[in-house]
Amino acid sequence: MTTYTERQSQERDVRDLLSLKGQVAIITGAAGWLGAAMSRALAEAGATVVVTSRSEARAAELAESLPGSGHLGLALAQDDTDGLDDFVAGVARRLGRVDALVNNAYGGTGPSIDQTTAADFDRSYHTGVTAYFILARAVANHLRERGAPGSIINIASMYGVVASYPNAYVGYNINSPAHYHALKGGLVHLTRHLAAYWAAYNIRVNALSPGPFPPSRVNDANPGFIERLEEKVPLGRVGRPSELKGAVVFLASDASSYVTGQNLLVDGGWTIW
Ligand SMILES: NC(=O)c1ccc[n+]([C@@H]2O[C@H](COP(=O)([O-])OP(=O)(O)OC[C@H]3O[C@@H](n4cnc5c(N)ncnc54)[C@H](OP(=O)(O)O)[C@@H]3O)[C@@H](O)[C@H]2O)c1
Repeated sequence: MTTYTERQSQERDVRDLLSLKGQVAIITGAAGWLGAAMSRALAEAGATVVVTSRSEARAAELAESLPGSGHLGLALAQDDTDGLDDFVAGVARRLGRVDALVNNAYGGTGPSIDQTTAADFDRSYHTGVTAYFILARAVANHLRERGAPGSIINIASMYGVVASYPNAYVGYNINSPAHYHALKGGLVHLTRHLAAYWAAYNIRVNALSPGPFPPSRVNDANPGFIERLEEKVPLGRVGRPSELKGAVVFLASDASSYVTGQNLLVDGGWTIW
């Protein structure tokens, strides 16, 4: 029988499993409310991080602020899906590799259910699902060419798993739009599909679904809204962006080497009842 010491010597230390040293990670929509914290997490774990924004200046400012060196801030508007393969190829050329992708950018509209149009559905799906797929496939193809493992993380939402909570929105000019629910649910399932196809290459695909993380600007413009959300959260409060840091590093790193096709909900317990 092997001793504890022998078994320990066969295992990797958990700090090593969580390390992203030597790896390159791309995160889209990085300059936003949640993206900036996740970008910092990837950099703190040792990755060289490629942060994107539609504004090159915003991306460059964020890249400059990250711990470590060699980070890149690049402009990326993902409405134009034709350019996404070239974007990934360009990063791989410039940095020599891409190991992880965090599909995070989203910019859909927020009309009420009565005012939602077909165009709201089409535009948001294009940016929030189609573009995620094209970027994921470009990274997967790069990894397959390199014969390297990798991790793709799709930022979905608790609203891809449970229905809206209409009472939270009554009286405010904020909505939980129909197309958002449809596309985030689709994204969770797309994640499973890609995981099934790419598992053979040791390319893991997972979703990370935030619960209620309203930006401070939402509360400033809608006093009382956050309290309504908090009443529904088992942990009794909304999330702070930094509370996604551990989850994104876990999914990007070897700490989750046997996890694929899953949806990790970071939601204060919203979806448990
Ligand atoms: N906050 C929450 O409570 C919450 C809850 C569940 C899920 N989520 C998900 O978490 C992710 C990040 O949300 P967030 O709250 O951080 O939102 P956010 O602050 O609005 O950040 C999203 C970023 O996406 C970028 N973007 C928008 N349209 C784009 C386009 N067409 N092409 C490329 N980039 C585009 C924008 O960056 P630039 O203006 O710099 O280009 C924006 O800052 C989203 O997928 C969202 O659905 C958020």
